[in-house]
Amino acid sequence: MSTVLYIKANARPEGESRTFRISDRFVETYKKYHPEDTVLTLDLSKENIHFLTEEEVAKHSAEMLTEKDITAKYAYQFRNSDKYIFAEPMWNLGVPAILKAYIDYISIPGITFKYTENGAAGLCEGKKAVNITTSGGDYSEGMAAEWEMCDKYLKAMMALFGITDYVTVSATNLDVIGEDVEAIVNEAIRKAEELAKYF
Ligand SMILES: Cc1cc2nc3c(=O)[nH]c(=O)nc-3n(C[C@H](O)[C@H](O)[C@H](O)COP(=O)(O)O)c2cc1C
Repeated sequence: MSTVLYIKANARPEGESRTFRISDRFVETYKKYHPEDTVLTLDLSKENIHFLTEEEVAKHSAEMLTEKDITAKYAYQFRNSDKYIFAEPMWNLGVPAILKAYIDYISIPGITFKYTENGAAGLCEGKKAVNITTSGGDYSEGMAAEWEMCDKYLKAMMALFGITDYVTVSATNLDVIGEDVEAIVNEAIRKAEELAKYF
């Protein structure tokens, strides 16, 4: 029995967000194929997440925190889960700021990673993540591929935590005039549903 954390990062709500259209279908299919698992939804827009304060930065290590501290609460929840489903649109080439703020909460030495003589090492090995993301443009090749810092950032952070089993489902060009946006989203939904069966 696995615990799955569904981490949603978009101010645009259900029913309007194309990203959530895809990720919700992933989750529906996942639940159907893994009825014994627990899926916890973390809609970051509805959580009381802020930028790290001076006090929180000063206490940013496992030894200085208890589970009552809000950063530790999220970090332990993350570490105690087995699988992660991220859903976010690209905002200004990166992840929405609320997702970055959440990562700042959970990236705590002694909880999700540790420092060693050889540098940082993950404490969440053996877990897996899927990133479901959309963008107005396309970042698959050329200069644009270098500018893509949304999926790349999340993949790097998961690697820091020791999570190297990481896949991406993306729908791109959603704001390009003349594109068949419905067809692009439906194709991403098809891929998401396929992946969810065996995730
Ligand atoms: C604040 C903001 C910033 C954005 N920045 C980018 C960007 O840098 N590159 C891009 O391709 N699309 C960008 N977009 C477009 C979104 O990524 C795109 O419309 C996405 O599909 C929105 O997903 P949603 O329908 O789930 O909200 C931006 C949209 C917003 C609202």
